[in-house]
Amino acid sequence: MTTYSLLILPGDGIGPEVMAEVRKVIGWFETNRGLSFDVSEDLVGGAAYDKHGKPLADETMAKALEVDAVLLGAVGGPAYDNLDFSVKPERGLLRLRKEMDLFANLRPAQCFDALADFSSLKRDVVAGLDILIVRELTSGVYFGQPRGISADDTPGNEGGRVGVNTQRYTSGEIRRVARAAFELARKRNNRVCSMEKANVMESGILWREEVQWVHDNEYPDVELSHMYADNGAMQLVRNPRQFDVIVTDNLFGDILSDAAAMLTGSLGMLPSASLGAPMENGRPRAMYEPVHGSAPDITGQGKANPIACILSFAMALRYSYGLGDEADRLERAVEKVLADGVRTGDLMGPEGGTPVSTSQMGDAIVAALAAA
Ligand code: NAI
Ligand code: MG
Repeated sequence: MTTYSLLILPGDGIGPEVMAEVRKVIGWFETNRGLSFDVSEDLVGGAAYDKHGKPLADETMAKALEVDAVLLGAVGGPAYDNLDFSVKPERGLLRLRKEMDLFANLRPAQCFDALADFSSLKRDVVAGLDILIVRELTSGVYFGQPRGISADDTPGNEGGRVGVNTQRYTSGEIRRVARAAFELARKRNNRVCSMEKANVMESGILWREEVQWVHDNEYPDVELSHMYADNGAMQLVRNPRQFDVIVTDNLFGDILSDAAAMLTGSLGMLPSASLGAPMENGRPRAMYEPVHGSAPDITGQGKANPIACILSFAMALRYSYGLGDEADRLERAVEKVLADGVRTGDLMGPEGGTPVSTSQMGDAIVAALAAA
C-alpha cells in the first residue's frame, strides 16, 4: 500500500486551530477510503522562534525536503512584530519556498454557488467561476539585480536619489513555469492565457516568446492565448469566466491573484499551492497553505474558518498524491456544507444567522464526506 507523507506546520495564531480540522479530514480518508498518511508535525514562524530562536529549525527544513508535501497554517502575529528582520516569522516561510525552490504558485479562484452573493461582482458574472492563476514565484522584479536606493538627497542634490528594481527573467525560468501551467491546463479545460507587458517591456517579449515556444514544441494540444496584463486585470473583473489557467510573472501574478481572489468572497475560503521541480517519484516538490494569515483578532475564539486550509489539503491530494478523485470528493463535501447554509462568522451575510465554530465546520465537512 502506498503511504503518503505529509509534514504539517500549523504555525501561529489560527494556524493550529484550522489545522486541527484538517487532521479530522485526514482521519476520515484513512478510516473510510483506506488511504495511509504518514503525518509528521513541526514548528514554523513565531512558534519555532519561541523554541529555537529562529523561525524554522534546520531539522524542520531537512524534513520538508524529504516529504511528499508540506501543509502550512499561517505565521506571524503581534508578539513577533518587533523581532529583528532576520528572525521574523515570515522568514521561515520564505526559507521553505526558497530551499524547496517552489517556482510555481497556484492560486485558484473558485466561486461556490452558495457564496456567489458575497462577491463584489454580480452573481451572474461570478457564478460557476473556476480559474487557476499560476504565478512565477522565485524570480522577476522582487529578486532581480541591481536593486537598491542610491545617491543622497542632500542639499545641492535634491531629487537625486534613485530607487532601482530590476525585472529579470531567464528563458529557463519562464519555460519551467510555462510547463507547469500547461500540465495543469491539461488536467482542467486545456486553455492557458499568458499575461505580460510585451508592448513596453523586453522581459515581457521574452516571456511571450518562451511561453509560445513551450506551447509549440511540447503542448500544441493546449489552447494558448496572450494578453497584456493591464487588459487582463480589466477582463478579470469584466468577464472572469473566459479564463481557465492564467500564467504570469511574479509581480503581475501577485496583483492579479489577489484581485481574482476577491471575486470569490472571503479570505477564509482561499487555498494555495506552491510547486517546484519533480522529485524522484515524479511528483513536484510542494507546499500547500491557505492564503490568509494568522488572524490575531480572532485567535483562540473558535471563529476561524477552516475551509481555506481544508481546500489546501484537497490540492495536496490532487497535485502531490495523484488522488484527483479524492480531491474532488473533498471539494464536493465543502460545497454541500455551504449549500446547506453552514457558515462560520466570516461567511455571514447581512441577513445574519448563527455562525458555527471552527470545530463544527470541520465536523460538518467530515459528515458530508460520506455522501460526497
Ligand atoms: P489575516 O489574513 O491574518 O487577517 C485579515 C482579516 O481576515 C482578519 O480580520 C481576520 O480575522 C480575517 N481572517 C483571516 N483568515 C480567516 C479565517 N480563516 N476565518 C475567518 N476570518 C479570517 O491578515 P492580517 O491581519 O493582515 O495579518 C495578521 C498576521 O498574519 C500578521 O502577522 C501577518 O504578517 C500574518 N500573515 C501571514 C500570512 C501567511 O502566513 N501566509 C499571510 C498574511 C499575513
Ligand atoms: Mg499579495
